[in-house]
Amino acid sequence: MAGKIPQYFIDDLLARADIVPVVDSRVKLRKTGKNYSACCPFHDEKTPSFTVSPDKQFYYCFGCGASGNAVGFLMEYDRLPFPEAVEKLAASMGIDVPREQLAPGQIKRQQESQSLYQLTEKAADFYRTQLKDHKVSTPAITYLKNRGLSGAVCKEFGIGLAPPGWDNLLNQLGTSSEKTEQLELAGLAIRRQDSDGNPGKMEPGKRHHYDRFRNRIMFPIRDQRGRTIAFGGRVLGDDKPKYLNSPETPIFHKGRELYGLWEARQANRELKRLIVVEGYMDVVALAQYDIRCAVATLGTACGEDHIQLAFRHTQELVFCFDGDQAGRTAARRALEAALPQMQDGRSVRFLLLPEGEDPDTLVRQIGGERFDQLIDEQGRPLEDFLFDLLSEGINIQTMDGRARLSKAAAPLLDLLPAGVYRQLMFQQLARRTGLEQDMLEEIIAAEKARAAKLAQQAQPTPPKPVPTAAGEDHARPAAPAPAEAFNEVPPADYEVPPGYDDDESEAHYYTHPSSHPSSHSSSHPSEGPQTRETPRRRSGQYRLPAERMLIALLLHHPQLAQLIDDSARFRDSDDSDLQLFAEILQVMHQNPALNSNQLFGRLMTLQSKEARELLPQLAMSHPIVGSVSQSMEYDPQTEFQDCLQRLAHSAEKQRKRDLLDQLKNSGNQLGEEQLALLAQFRRKPH
Ligand code: GTP
Ligand code: MN
Repeated sequence: MAGKIPQYFIDDLLARADIVPVVDSRVKLRKTGKNYSACCPFHDEKTPSFTVSPDKQFYYCFGCGASGNAVGFLMEYDRLPFPEAVEKLAASMGIDVPREQLAPGQIKRQQESQSLYQLTEKAADFYRTQLKDHKVSTPAITYLKNRGLSGAVCKEFGIGLAPPGWDNLLNQLGTSSEKTEQLELAGLAIRRQDSDGNPGKMEPGKRHHYDRFRNRIMFPIRDQRGRTIAFGGRVLGDDKPKYLNSPETPIFHKGRELYGLWEARQANRELKRLIVVEGYMDVVALAQYDIRCAVATLGTACGEDHIQLAFRHTQELVFCFDGDQAGRTAARRALEAALPQMQDGRSVRFLLLPEGEDPDTLVRQIGGERFDQLIDEQGRPLEDFLFDLLSEGINIQTMDGRARLSKAAAPLLDLLPAGVYRQLMFQQLARRTGLEQDMLEEIIAAEKARAAKLAQQAQPTPPKPVPTAAGEDHARPAAPAPAEAFNEVPPADYEVPPGYDDDESEAHYYTHPSSHPSSHSSSHPSEGPQTRETPRRRSGQYRLPAERMLIALLLHHPQLAQLIDDSARFRDSDDSDLQLFAEILQVMHQNPALNSNQLFGRLMTLQSKEARELLPQLAMSHPIVGSVSQSMEYDPQTEFQDCLQRLAHSAEKQRKRDLLDQLKNSGNQLGEEQLALLAQFRRKPH
């Protein structure tokens, strides 16, 4: 049983590894000045915006924002989980990877999981054998045949049969009380309850448990490594409930698994796309027609975790749902869950089927080829789907309609991560509503402020969700950023990317054409220059805000960490950049011996996703002018202290504003202390 790879080893490995040959052996690099460049392997492009820095030991793409160190590159390029990527890197350097000793509790948990995996696999075997046993299997086989499934496809998906009866599985696998308990833990047996009388039909006396799955077709649910972790069971007729799923167990979390993913991975070396459908039967029926890339959630809505998981294996998702109300609701949920994950290069499309059809019934009518074609021809790109959905019931010809559309769309688009795609989406919204980009930003800021205010008023209840055009509340809480902070500092996602300054030669980092399906509209002649002007860029604004400048300076000059003894005051701030700054300081304080490469490697493996996206940008940019190529003499310490002063100054301003607000609101009942403060403010205008 392998423990974790120790952090010291990863630090050391990253310090010794050279990212350049790692990348170069997979993507041919060209030397450009201090760095290397190539066309980005993570999105389609014609001019190189993918850069590898030997100094910083990481890669960064100005086109799609992909970034990371050598391990991160292997994870993305070779599609490996983190430990395997470390193994591969180490192997390429001829080094063995040590593993940490596990604590006794961890060993116990791992052993417990291990025996659950074995048990579920045995159960799957048992169900499969039952499907071959003619004494019980005839109705089931007839059922499967009637649904058009061949023996080969049933085998591929490991489909089985839970025979009728209360204790078939228990008799097979629950041979001791310990094993029976395990069956219960695995969700396969249910403990009898004395009162409810439900298992009353059972043979009296002996058992405290009964089988969960009885007289059902069994679909084993496999995890990414192909281990059976749970089951879905379908009745053979019209009984209710139609499907029964395993409950959550130590090895099964339905929010994080996709049915059919392992099978799809087995059937395809490269997954061109994944089709997300609603039912197990849909997945299997599509495979029957040689569409071996369908996955389904396990009777739950498709959430962010599902989408993240799917995007780990492909760049293109197609949601193919029924055309009924439930399917439309599912599609809207999927849309919202997908937005935050729409990094450049990824694509999401929607195909809502005619009412009364699902992928299973449809593919049986039209066949696999035509089904594939249908997806290609009629799958609507996320952008069209989103705008059509939001425009429903709105007359876009009227001013009122446009205002309503922008109000509904802006907060949703604000969920998109930074990148070309996000900009294109905002341009689309601007075009559809006839509103200027600046205006849309103000709408977002206002909506955020409103949400924050509501959240504040409603405390301690959770923040108010952002309403959509359909007038329905969604579960997603609005980011509680106060409007003012938003106006003072350019919002992170609008930030001018580091490669952009007045030097025309660098502008391509920014206007870089993306081959993302959404960018087809950029052939519009008026859009080239527009793209470049999209982010707010007033004079001097490509100086980073103080919070980010601090991080950038720290990344370039780790010794600056010594100027700050106590990072706690930043950690307690409301500002996420300052919190990140505090985290970096802490890592530096705890590991004074790390050089900047090691440090960077450490930060890239420890931090949140937002941080992993932001840090390479900041480290790649010149801290003073925000440009990659430009260099300018500066004294890091002076700059650093200046930033700290700027922060202190704006904190002080905020404090005064708060006090003044307090004073205004407190009417006549001013205390002595407040009067003194008021007098002080009057003397010293601010
Ligand atoms: P059939 O074609 O009728 O076999 O089913 P389907 O695959 O078309 O499934 P349907 O569209 O009815 O439902 C989609 C998914 O929702 C199923 O695969 C199940 O995961 C889940 N589901 C459907 N009915 C039930 C139910 O009664 N209970 C539970 N827990 N889940 C269900
Ligand atoms: Mn169906």
